[in-house]
Order: sequence, then C-alpha cells, then structure tokens
Amino acid sequence: MSPFRVTRTLPEDATDAALRDDVLAGLTSTPKWLPPKWFYDARGSELFEEITALDEYYPTRAEREILVDRAGEIAAATGARTLVELGSGSSEKTRFLLDALTGLRGYVPVDVSESALTQAGRALAAERPELRVHALIADFTAELTLPDTPGPRLVAFLGGTIGNLLPDERAAFLSGVRALLSPGDALLLGADLVKDERVLVRAYDDAAGVTAAFNKNVLSVVNRELDADFDPAAFAHVALWNAEREWIEMRLRSLSAQTVKIQALDLAVDFAAGEELRTEVSAKFRREGVHAELAEAGLEPAHWWTDAAGRFALSLSVA
Ligand code: AVJ
Repeated sequence: MSPFRVTRTLPEDATDAALRDDVLAGLTSTPKWLPPKWFYDARGSELFEEITALDEYYPTRAEREILVDRAGEIAAATGARTLVELGSGSSEKTRFLLDALTGLRGYVPVDVSESALTQAGRALAAERPELRVHALIADFTAELTLPDTPGPRLVAFLGGTIGNLLPDERAAFLSGVRALLSPGDALLLGADLVKDERVLVRAYDDAAGVTAAFNKNVLSVVNRELDADFDPAAFAHVALWNAEREWIEMRLRSLSAQTVKIQALDLAVDFAAGEELRTEVSAKFRREGVHAELAEAGLEPAHWWTDAAGRFALSLSVA
C-alpha cells in the first residue's frame, strides 16, 4: 500500500461557522439567497450523483467524453508529475486522467467533504502503489497550501463547478490558482457552454424531479444543522435562464406567506407568498470569455477541447 495522507486545513467547526454566517447573511438579504455549497451533505451528494445519470443532465457525460478523447493529449501537453484536483468529490472522472498521466507521482484531491476524500483516496492508494495520495480537507475558494510534491503540477477543476462562482469570485479564484502554479504548471478547467435555453433549463428541471429534490435538500441541511423548521413541501423548485448574465439560476419559491424559525440563529424569517430564495447560479461560458478570464488571472490559454456536440469544454492553460 502506497502512502495515503489526509491533511485538514479547515478547522473542525469551520463548516458550522461558515454555514451560520451564510444562512444569516443570505436569509436576511433582499432578495434572499443561499450559497450552493450547502447542497452537498450525504443526501445531497447522493442526489447529485443521480442527477449526473439523468437524460436531461448532459454536462457529466459531455465532460467524460472529452476526458476519454483527450486524456493522452493532456498528459503529453503537461507531463504532470502531480495532479491537484479541486472539489474532487468521488473522483470518478479523474480516473481517465490518472490512467493517462503515466509519469504521475502525486495525487492531491482537495475537498470539503472528508468522507468523499478518504474513500476515494484510500481506494486509489491501494490501486496505484507508486502514487503518493495526499488528500486535503480544504475549501478551494479560500487560500490553499499544497503539499510539497514533485512538479510539473496539473491543477484540475472539473464538472463545471467554476459556474457556481459569481464573476468577482471567479476572478479571485483564478488568481488564487495562478498563485499556486510555477512556470510549466497547468490548469485544466471544465466549463459548461452557452446553448439553447430549452436544453439548459431542462438540465436543471428534469421530468423525474431529482433536481427539485436536490434543490430542496438545502432546506433539510439548514433544518438539521441549525435547528430550523423549513417545510420543503411549502416551496417549489424553480430553474430559469438569465440571458443577460448567461447563467442558470435555481430558486425556491415560497408557495404561501410563511415564517421559518432558525433556532440556532435565534432568527425568524418571513417569506411572502411567491417570494423566491436563490440557491444556485450555474454560469455557462463561451470560449472568448473563458480565455479573457484566464488571461486576466495571468494564465495563458493553450488548448480548448469540446465534446462532439459542442456542449461542454475543457480548457488547458499554463502558468
Ligand atoms: C456540480 C455545480 C457543476 O451547476 O450543473 C446540478 C450542480 N445543480 N444540477 C451544476 C447542479 C443542479 C452542478 N455543478
């Protein structure tokens, strides 16, 4: 068995404090909002896995297609000896990269979820005895300190999760990634692309209602963690395309006038009938926009690959 290490840079209670701050800020704002990162408790992660298998939800399959086709090119272009994966989750798609990166010595999965990290990390360390797996429990939107593994480094941020960040957060995130890279290191970024509005909306409002359940799950997270009394059935799932900002928004619409109590915050939150709470932004991209944002962060775009249908892109940029 090769070495498997886990380093926690998030204090045990950081998640709790961050959730409190976010819920207080978001539910006392007009309009109300909650950050999408709180979807992913065990149930939410399970629901997201279900989403990725839905007919309507194309991004996972489109990105996998690109990875399968291009993993060899990515390996040749980067010569990576360390792969850092931000928001690695279950690391499923990473397999294609790990298999292609033959010179790889270190794998550094970074996630806030300790359970996802240890499961995936252990399995991998057992399979690839030559690979040093060093998992980081960390919030990749905050400052990261990477373990001292051999270069060149390839930082991968897959799944289109970059779309969850608002434009100013995205700029800060990309600059932060740039600061982790030395000359010869690279960033592999997965981005969902602007396309027909109906295709986009269907992907976030599937017929079976899995995305609706995923969206409402954030209310259950707040109920459990902050002793609140949200009734998920009292809210409707809303997915809409914001054509001006070019992003999908998920919202929860209050079906009636109601007051929700959040005991841990000693807070009562009033919802008007029809009032909407924004739970996620999922931005969609164009090549020019991605390249401009990379350049702004000091990264040089080197490759742009899409799936055959042109739905999703992987961008490779270098420091
Ligand atoms: C995991 C952030 C890429 O935005 O498509 C799926 C999350 N939300 N369905 C996305 C999500 C609703 C997903 N990301």
